[in-house]
Amino acid sequence: MDARTRCDRTTAWSALRVARASQGLGFDLRQAFASDPVRFDTLSQQAPHVFADLSKNLIDAPLEQLLLQLAHDCGVSAYRDAMFAGAPINNTEHRAVRHVLLRTPRPSDGGPMEPALAEVHATLEAMLAYAERLRQDAAITDVVHIGIGGSDLGPQMAVRALDAFAHVGKRLHFVSNVDGHELDATLGALAPDSTVFLIASKTFTTVETMTNAASAKRWFQAQGGRDIARHFCALTTNVEAAHRFGIATTFGFRDWVGGRYSLWSAIGLPIAIAIGADGFRAFLAGAHAMDEHFRSAPLAHNLPVRLALIDIWYRNFCGFTSRSIAPYHSALARWPAFLQQLEMESNGKRVDRHGIALPFDTAPVLWGEPGTNGQHAYFQMLHQGTDIVPVEFVVVKTQRHALEGHHDLLLANALAQAQALMVGQRDDDGHRHFPGNRPSTVLLLDTLDPTSLGALIALQEHRVFVSGAIWGIDSFDQWGVELGKQLATAIAPRLHSGDVSGLDGSTAGLLRRLRQLQ
Ligand code: F6P
Repeated sequence: MDARTRCDRTTAWSALRVARASQGLGFDLRQAFASDPVRFDTLSQQAPHVFADLSKNLIDAPLEQLLLQLAHDCGVSAYRDAMFAGAPINNTEHRAVRHVLLRTPRPSDGGPMEPALAEVHATLEAMLAYAERLRQDAAITDVVHIGIGGSDLGPQMAVRALDAFAHVGKRLHFVSNVDGHELDATLGALAPDSTVFLIASKTFTTVETMTNAASAKRWFQAQGGRDIARHFCALTTNVEAAHRFGIATTFGFRDWVGGRYSLWSAIGLPIAIAIGADGFRAFLAGAHAMDEHFRSAPLAHNLPVRLALIDIWYRNFCGFTSRSIAPYHSALARWPAFLQQLEMESNGKRVDRHGIALPFDTAPVLWGEPGTNGQHAYFQMLHQGTDIVPVEFVVVKTQRHALEGHHDLLLANALAQAQALMVGQRDDDGHRHFPGNRPSTVLLLDTLDPTSLGALIALQEHRVFVSGAIWGIDSFDQWGVELGKQLATAIAPRLHSGDVSGLDGSTAGLLRRLRQLQ
């Protein structure tokens, strides 16, 4: 089932080390372009709905061949096929990883479906019908989605990204933080009769979501709201817990959908409410097109694989610790936050799948803001700081507004930043000198629509999968979030009791101080 070879045990890994050592002072992008007139063609690719320019990365064709050999030696293709076949590759939780099934269409010949796929389509139909009813229900003006992590970041990012396609009569609100200021500010502008609450939690146990859901229900009842069945809906694998909470309307999914991969499931209901059933189907279709590309394209022409291999090169051989995400489209404001969970929760691991400590680095830090804002904040560091931070631009060819000049300026800025990072500028004054040779990738969409967004997300999911496969880790668990949850549960009652026994000195001191201020 899991026949992967850990990267550091392959001959390709050793060869890559030699290649890095022999680069001496390093690879020079400017020279690479000067000596290879077809570099852009060799290192760019049209994948479904996404064009990628990889040519401003610190690799060349021979190095990419070595990296492809690494993917081959690690057994990436077989591991990918195991995921698509539904093998239990999440080995610490003994679960399959089947989010691709959520966007798999019915068989085109109308033939029978495997039970899991039939269930996916039954839920999808029910959920889309609910979304359409809600869209036509003029009495409902506000939808509040309560969830956190994967039950928030994906739907929130996508609803914002697809704002141009949204139903004009519905306002969507997202509440994730247990910080009551967030829910309080949202509820302040709402009326119970015109509001629907979606309680989104895979487990239906996450303390932030349960606390917010309980407060929302109390608010609803205190405001005179009576019809919980009409005004509350749960999106969860734990239907019994939702019923115990008092929610009758539920849309489910299975434990083989990881939280950070769940926006394709019932967790994506707010997306369907925003853009409608046809829009949601287009979103799934875009992701499916990328799935098919990932599943069938040879590794050398497989965009998720090529991106992941560059990531591995930078992280494990160049020592780069982070990647800056620069979406040049304001609707993609939550794109960096979404990618943070996708990549850092998946691959922020220090042991391999057998629990053995790894002798190499895994997930980098992802961070960023939409362009051009980032340019006036931290791009100084990207151009002249001491760290080299690969930048990943997302650029959208067409705009959906009629304001003259803006879009050309936006596009020009994206191109200029990538160019400046690479070419730099020689100046005898050190302050004004730009070293250049700083790598970047441009992901280019013709238009930001449900289909292209679906493809862009699936591209990132598969890229994270490939890195995790090469590192030999379990990309689908997240044990690292558990300790903090347990400790918070233990500390909460102490804020009332003042009991500091057994606590470390700092936590005890802070707790005492917080109690003084209360
Ligand atoms: O933060 C940890 C985590 O388990 C994420 O993986 C998950 O997306 C999030 O909490 C929310 O979990 P749930 O959907 O079960 O409320």
